[in-house]
Amino acid sequence: MSHQPPADQPRTFHVKSFGCQMNVYDGERMAELMAAQGLTATQDAAAADLVVLNTCHIREKATEKVYSDIGRLRKDAAAQGRARPMIAVAGCVAQAEGAEIVARAKVDVVVGPQAYHNLPDLVARAAAGVPALDTDMPTASKFGQLPARRRVGPSAFLTVQEGCDKFCTYCVVPYTRGAEISRPFEAIVDEAKALVDAGAREITLLGQNVNAWTDEGRGLHDLIRAIDRINGIARIRYTTSHPNDMTQGLIDAHRDVETLMPFLHLPVQAGSDRVLRAMNRSHTRDSYLRLIDRIRTARPDIALSGDFIVGFPGETEADFAETLSLVDTVAHAQAFSFKYSPRPGTPAATMADQVPAAVMDDRLQRLQAALNRDQHAFNAASIGRRCTVLIERKGKLPGQMLGKSPWLQSVHLLTDAAIGDLVEVEVTSAGPNSLGAVERLRQVA
Ligand code: SAH
Ligand code: SF4
Ligand code: F3S
Repeated sequence: MSHQPPADQPRTFHVKSFGCQMNVYDGERMAELMAAQGLTATQDAAAADLVVLNTCHIREKATEKVYSDIGRLRKDAAAQGRARPMIAVAGCVAQAEGAEIVARAKVDVVVGPQAYHNLPDLVARAAAGVPALDTDMPTASKFGQLPARRRVGPSAFLTVQEGCDKFCTYCVVPYTRGAEISRPFEAIVDEAKALVDAGAREITLLGQNVNAWTDEGRGLHDLIRAIDRINGIARIRYTTSHPNDMTQGLIDAHRDVETLMPFLHLPVQAGSDRVLRAMNRSHTRDSYLRLIDRIRTARPDIALSGDFIVGFPGETEADFAETLSLVDTVAHAQAFSFKYSPRPGTPAATMADQVPAAVMDDRLQRLQAALNRDQHAFNAASIGRRCTVLIERKGKLPGQMLGKSPWLQSVHLLTDAAIGDLVEVEVTSAGPNSLGAVERLRQVA
């Protein structure tokens, strides 16, 4: 139930999310939660009474960003002659550094990814002058305690699984997000229906290991098939997947389920078995490539995406050459690549043979050149193709709209279609990051 906040409480808020799509989802849910308390959302962080920084801990740079952001917020407020905004640090830095943030940056609220349903209470306590911290990982799920979904855009996120049990040796996620937990089947289908009722045409199912989702023997493919049956749903996607949880049922769904889009983000990280073993990835180069073959047999036009790390401790030039040759073999439609960043508390951070920064820079550049080449080639091969585009927003030019192809490419076209419409187009041009198209047919609902 919504009510007016007392005078000493913040009245306006701004949520800023960093990191992965699960953080974006959490940010939306926190915004809905604060709105249900009677606070008003504002686009302008500097003008908000309460700023929620929903942080990411994955690499050192991401983590440092939270401290520079806090400094900037306070400076901007001071420059405007305002009292400092109340600052709440949420997300994975909150979980990992907890009390340290309160001590170092004097923030008002720290709330972990599994505790943010308590945000209104924590804000109330902070408003009373007591810094409030909650980084518990309760056994009862936060999801049941969040308000219902009301208004969303044509493409919506839905978290179905959280946490990770894989413990790759470089990664903080198992520590910041906790063990793998799947939300119940019924709760997810209900939320999917609510999202469609609220305007979503496309739903992206999210999880740190989304394809590990399970409930009473059901797998992610069963969930996809159930969401496929919801009236009004046009597209389903899911991310991020681990190669070891890619079941035959899920591969078959890519062949059978028309609303399941031909796109798969399936990180491999590296191409050398020696490095994969040191990373504790529990798949090999060969098992990964065989998996890709099976997926492509089921769905020949599938666009593959991935993540790569260069400069993992001990990575030699020969190891890196195997990553490049894997990239050549797979030909990704798009991919993310990162320099290895040592994270406190992870096994890799104290491994011998840390790779010098200059070597990492060089390898990243060469890897990105190869990935960009493949992305451009994938886009160029789309010219002449007919496909649907889900219109998501206005473009810069008059009459121009932007949307996504089934293969998650950005597409711009001139059309009088509205946001949320599905338009059939023919692709007429391709750049490194987007496609141009002309409209062929409008699909109504
Ligand atoms: N659960 C997903 C993604 C996790 S984080 C998966 O396993 O694929 C997203 C990406 O960040 C990872 O895939 C990895 O490529 C990268 N990453 C994680 N830890 C890192 C680190 N310490 N240094 C550099 N990149 C890292
Ligand atoms: Fe991190 Fe590995 Fe888990 Fe992905 S699978 S979240 S990289 S530990
Ligand atoms: Fe970052 Fe946490 Fe996501 S560390 S990538 S926000 S799970």
